Amino acid sequence: MPLVNARDMLTKAKAGHYAVGQFNINNLEWTKAILLTAQELNSPVILGVSEGAGKYMCGYKTVVGMVNGMLEELNITVPVALHLDHGSYEGALKCIEAGFSSVMFDGSHYPIEENVEKTKELVAICNEKGLSLEAEVGSIGGEEDGVIGAGECADPEECKKIADLGVTMLAAGIGNIHGKYPENWQGLSFETLDAVQKLTGAMPLVLHGGTGIPADMIKKAIDLGVSKINVNTECQLAFAEATRKYIEAGKDQQGKGFDPRKLLAPGFEAIKETVKEKMELFGSVNKA
Ligand code: 13P
Repeated sequence: MPLVNARDMLTKAKAGHYAVGQFNINNLEWTKAILLTAQELNSPVILGVSEGAGKYMCGYKTVVGMVNGMLEELNITVPVALHLDHGSYEGALKCIEAGFSSVMFDGSHYPIEENVEKTKELVAICNEKGLSLEAEVGSIGGEEDGVIGAGECADPEECKKIADLGVTMLAAGIGNIHGKYPENWQGLSFETLDAVQKLTGAMPLVLHGGTGIPADMIKKAIDLGVSKINVNTECQLAFAEATRKYIEAGKDQQGKGFDPRKLLAPGFEAIKETVKEKMELFGSVNKA
């Protein structure tokens, strides 16, 4: 099945009280592992691409070519959206042009009026071209592509302002951060999430920083309207650990163990396992 935008899958998730996972991709192995797992579990899925990862993979057109090729060659029939993660205004335009089916415009670092203006322009473009659009209010903490966000709780009134522009889904900062959570992390602010959900109604809400959030908090966030959860670091950690074990066991020096198809296989399987665990936790299995 060709790429779809994320509107239908997230509307169904919000109504059905589960969440669709966004898993960020970095290369061919990542993409193949995520797509095959989604197909095996009959789950919808969103492939996330940060601007940095897009550059690493030789640009958005290369990414679109790779993903479209895999959808066909692997006979993927579950709904798949290809989504720009934390995009700039210019990045969003480039992805729309390149053939992505969904984009995020992260205007959270702009004053709210500027965030509103730029988001509004992108709503019009995405509507015309049939893409879904994610907006953000209240920055997500931690580091992503070298940018360190302090992590703040969004103002629910500002969330309503952005939601009312007609975006497809909204990321609201609720104390979540990218990467590993520090020992002294205060946890998610369910008070903020509850207030945002009350003001934004049916709007699917997005939880960034899915790595390391305890299962009970994930479930409560889904109860309070989260329908899309982003996971990146956890797949990277799983890949790195499995690859390290392979090398430390000297397997790259046995027979043809140096062949990248063998060397990258344990990491590939580790990504599949991580994605499976998350899809089960988020409740998206058999929701394709
Ligand atoms: P993690 O890297 O913490 O899983 O966060 C992913 C994310 O939110 C991508 O936007």
